[in-house]
Amino acid sequence: MSYLKLSGGPALQGELAVQGAKNSVLPILAATLLSAGECVIHNCPKLKDVDASIRILQTLGCRARWEGHTLIVDTAGMTCGEIPDGLMREMRSSVIFLGAILARCGRSVLSYPGGCELGPRPIDLHLAALQALGAGIEERGGNLYCSAGKLHGSEITLSLPSVGATENTLLAACGAEGTTVLCNAAREPEIVDLQNFLRAMGADIHGAGSSTIVVRGGKPLHGCTHTVISDRIAAATYLSAAAAAGGDVLLRQVDYRHLSTVTAALKEAGCTVHSGSDWVRLRSRGALRAIRPVRTAPYPGFPTDAQAVLMAAMLRSRGTTLFIENIFENRYRHVAELLRMGANIRTEGRVAVVCGVQTLHGAKTVATDLRGGAGLVIAALAAEGESEIAALEHIDRGYEDLAGNLASLGAQIVRVDK
Ligand code: UD1
Repeated sequence: MSYLKLSGGPALQGELAVQGAKNSVLPILAATLLSAGECVIHNCPKLKDVDASIRILQTLGCRARWEGHTLIVDTAGMTCGEIPDGLMREMRSSVIFLGAILARCGRSVLSYPGGCELGPRPIDLHLAALQALGAGIEERGGNLYCSAGKLHGSEITLSLPSVGATENTLLAACGAEGTTVLCNAAREPEIVDLQNFLRAMGADIHGAGSSTIVVRGGKPLHGCTHTVISDRIAAATYLSAAAAAGGDVLLRQVDYRHLSTVTAALKEAGCTVHSGSDWVRLRSRGALRAIRPVRTAPYPGFPTDAQAVLMAAMLRSRGTTLFIENIFENRYRHVAELLRMGANIRTEGRVAVVCGVQTLHGAKTVATDLRGGAGLVIAALAAEGESEIAALEHIDRGYEDLAGNLASLGAQIVRVDK
């Protein structure tokens, strides 16, 4: 079993180029299925979830190869087969393939996507939107049997702005005859990136970034070249690490506009933050102060994915900070592990009360989920003594070389692969 070995103490200093966005590249890889061509995807992060997506594409007869951080996907040989249960379970966002497969093949058989680490993650909105576009969907024995002789455009209103349901609907709508108007769509930057990718393929789509997205479907789509946007959550993680450990860190290849709620919180906590068009610099003395309640919300609100890493940065702050998790029901699983390091946190339902402590101490902990695992790393960087963090398979889903990047900034951290 692999684990991270860390010693807290050193301030973080230096520069880092931030990886491409996991949450952009996953729907983009699904979107490659919409054409029978070659897509060249630059700035593609090397992650476990990306590997799982590549295996799904390969299972469907597509070819993929890496050239550095460029992934070249050739979907000409796509067969309209099933995605095996094991692959569906491996990656929770595998359901985004559904809309694209329906658009290209007119039918799809999938098992329910895996697990529920953050509480129930239903896909009812995905299915209702695809049904509105003309798909017939039957659930039998844990499988979804989906068929759509011909998809047709429709006006669809999501009851909440689900990121995945928005993406699935857009992919299917590209293959539907006629116009789809998607209301109450998610407004995340990753949706805009998906729109840009689809446009590069020849799709007629506009409105991403606002709540209403319009797709004029049925256009012939072709291969394309695209550069994935930077990962705002990875950036938030490195900024929170520098805030907690102290230091002076410059992140390159970031869009500061995507980080405004995170940097506002870190400024309020006492960090100095400057930014330019594609960089953000944070300086911290490591001694933070409590901030106003942090409420997670759909973009442009404070991202649920940055909740755990900001919480970790606030553990040694002066005063009490409230976190209110409005997106997922069970997103405080990292708290029990943080308590092992001497943190003072109480949770009740969607609320976590973080009372700053003077010192944290190193401990042996286990990553509970992707962002919670990153939170443990940050807490360990701010703790006295040595920590170990196991269950790295969670962290590897979304961070490319987290340990190597932090070590390049001066952190005492090594990955032990056994
Ligand atoms: C995406 C992100 C994830 C992020 C989340 C919220 C990817 C690969 N993952 O996940 O990192 O934490 O957005 O920003 O992009 N819901 C329903 N029914 C549905 C779909 C969703 O009730 O059919 C609920 C969910 O249970 C959750 C909320 O809507 O409470 C938001 O989920 P959603 O935006 O869909 O998140 P994901 O797309 O799964």
